[in-house]
Amino acid sequence: MKANNKRQHIVAGNWKMNKTFQEADELIDNLMTELENNDIADTKVIICPPAIYLEMASDMAEESYFMVGAQNVNENESGAYTGEISAAMLEALELEYCIVGHSERRAYYHETDAIVAKKVDALLKHNIKPIVCCGEVLEEREANRHFDVIKRQIQEGLFHLTAEEFANVVIAYEPVWAIGTGKTATPEQAQEIHAYIRGLIAEKYGAEVADTTSILYGGSCKPGNAKELFAKPDVDGGLIGGACLKADDFMAIIKAF
Ligand code: 13P
Repeated sequence: MKANNKRQHIVAGNWKMNKTFQEADELIDNLMTELENNDIADTKVIICPPAIYLEMASDMAEESYFMVGAQNVNENESGAYTGEISAAMLEALELEYCIVGHSERRAYYHETDAIVAKKVDALLKHNIKPIVCCGEVLEEREANRHFDVIKRQIQEGLFHLTAEEFANVVIAYEPVWAIGTGKTATPEQAQEIHAYIRGLIAEKYGAEVADTTSILYGGSCKPGNAKELFAKPDVDGGLIGGACLKADDFMAIIKAF
C-alpha cells in the first residue's frame, strides 16, 4: 500500500459492448462472491456495464461493495435525441459515476473536447461523478505531442469548472495505443503522464485539489501488471477493459493495491 492516504484508490471496470443479460447477471454475481471473500481494503470498486444492465447492476450493488457507473451520457437535459440517455435518467437509478470522453467515443462517435465539457456539466448537475478519459494515439506519442494532446483534452474538457465542481471529477489516462492491444504503458510512462496531469490541475486549482484528485490508468491493465502500475505515486487505480470481463481477473487487479 502506498503512503498516500489523501486520494481514493479506484478500480473501475468498463465492460464496453460485452455480455448478454444472462452473462451480465452471472458476472456481477461472481464479482459479488469475490468481493465477499476478499479484503478490498479502502479501494473503491466501480463497474460500468452497458446501459441496458444499469438498473440490474444498481439493484445488485445494494447488496455488495461495488458502485455502478454508466459508459456514456447525452449532454442535453431531455428531448428528441433518439437512442440517447440523459444524466437525469442515470441519477434516477442512483448511479454514482459515468465515463466521459473515452477514446472509442472520441474516435467512432466524434466526441470532441467541447462535447466532453458539456457532458461533464450535465453529469455534475445531476450529482454524478464523471470519469473523464484522456490519452494520445500512437502517432501523437511518436511525434512527441502526447503532453500537448493531454493538456488540450484536460483544459478544454474540464478547466471551465470551479474548484468545488472539479473536486467531483476522476481522471483516467488511457493511451489509445495501449487499449485492447496487450501493449501496456510502462509504469514509468504512466507515472510521467499522471504527474503531468496532476501538475496541470495544481496550476489551475492549487496543490490541495491536485493532491486529492484520483487519476486512473487504463490500457491493457491486467492482473500481471497492475501491481507495478499502481505502485507509482501518481497512479491511483485503473480503468479496466478486457480484464474486467472475468470476475477473478478483475478481483486480482482490485487486490493489486
Ligand atoms: P483494455 O483494458 O481492454 O485495454 O481497455 C482499456 C479501456 O479502454 C478501459 O476504458
